[in-house]
Amino acid sequence: MKKKVTPLKVCVMLAISNTLITLLVIAVLSLAGKTQINTWQIFLIALLVFGASYTVTYLIIKKYILQKLIQIYKAIQHKGKSKNMLMSKNVFEQTSQDVSKWAKELDEEVQTQTQLANYRRLFIGNFSHEIRTPIFNIQGYIDTLIDGAMDDDNVREKYLNQASKNVTRLISIVEDLTTISKLEYNQVVMNITEFDLIPVIYDIFDELALKAEEFEIELKLDSHGHNFFTVKGDKMAIRQVLSNLLLNSIKYGKTKGKTTVNLLDMNTYAIIQVTDNGIGIEEKHLGHLCDRFYRVSTSRSRTAGGTGLGLAIVKHILEAHNQSLSISSNYGKGSTFAFQLEK
Ligand SMILES: Nc1ncnc2c1ncn2[C@@H]1O[C@H](COP(=O)(O)OP(=O)(O)OP(=O)(O)O)[C@@H](O)[C@H]1O
Ligand SMILES: [Mg+2]
Repeated sequence: MKKKVTPLKVCVMLAISNTLITLLVIAVLSLAGKTQINTWQIFLIALLVFGASYTVTYLIIKKYILQKLIQIYKAIQHKGKSKNMLMSKNVFEQTSQDVSKWAKELDEEVQTQTQLANYRRLFIGNFSHEIRTPIFNIQGYIDTLIDGAMDDDNVREKYLNQASKNVTRLISIVEDLTTISKLEYNQVVMNITEFDLIPVIYDIFDELALKAEEFEIELKLDSHGHNFFTVKGDKMAIRQVLSNLLLNSIKYGKTKGKTTVNLLDMNTYAIIQVTDNGIGIEEKHLGHLCDRFYRVSTSRSRTAGGTGLGLAIVKHILEAHNQSLSISSNYGKGSTFAFQLEK
């Protein structure tokens, strides 16, 4: 094992070697008959030399070496290192360890900040891109109305309706973002209760019936023989998760397709799967689907409309339940989105 060299040990070693040298000089002088001192005097001299050497070395180390190290510690903002503490440690090794640790932490901090800055830049870019279209649309309709279309009965109502649709779209983007940021900052307290998932799912089916009809998608629930399917979670939040997944299965489904919600009872927990036989997702996109504003660029995505916030909300809600979303897909054949809940 490597021996620890501390400033204190250096002081003691120097004091001992100075004392030994002094004793050697006295012995040589005595043998040469140049001096005659008794044992007590020798002992006293040894003690004095030891004390003086120790004190001088201690003060020199403290003043010239530790002073510098303390400055280094101040620079790296490492609190709680005093000169006295450092005296009993292997200062050079300790300082080099502390400085490397600090450099590593600093490096990590810089990386995190760079990632955050990139994320913010990307977010602002995506956000402005998303809101630009409805804003320009609204401006277009209003300008056309002001420029004379107001007097044309046929277009007036149509343009006002279009402007109103775009306002609704803006509101929904802002609402989705507000939900995400509240979930991210843990401002939403999940109201965990036990509830039956089956009526919740049928309620969402009713809500999406028109949309499903429009895309000719059949919505089906398979509870595997259960009349009740009780889970623990925030009812409204889980409703939103299922609603977002089901809406996606319709938007990215194929005409005359089918979406099945499977409820699997695993005794202590439940697995909820939403499976569609829609357009599917290429593997390279799977890891990004829950990123804000991430949309797979297909002609279907463009016509389906959306902001790319739905799955980000799903992810955050599930995280607030200490769960995650698992996604598997067969490109061109369909996808399954699944998560667990406590029972
Ligand atoms: N069931 C699915 N089948 C195929 N692709 C899907 C499916 N669900 C999601 N995706 C892809 O993942 C992308 C992200 O989905 P997400 O729900 O986050 O956003 P969105 O549906 O585009 O918009 P929003 O939900 O905010 O209205 C979609 O644009 C789509 O490309
Ligand atoms: Mg969606």
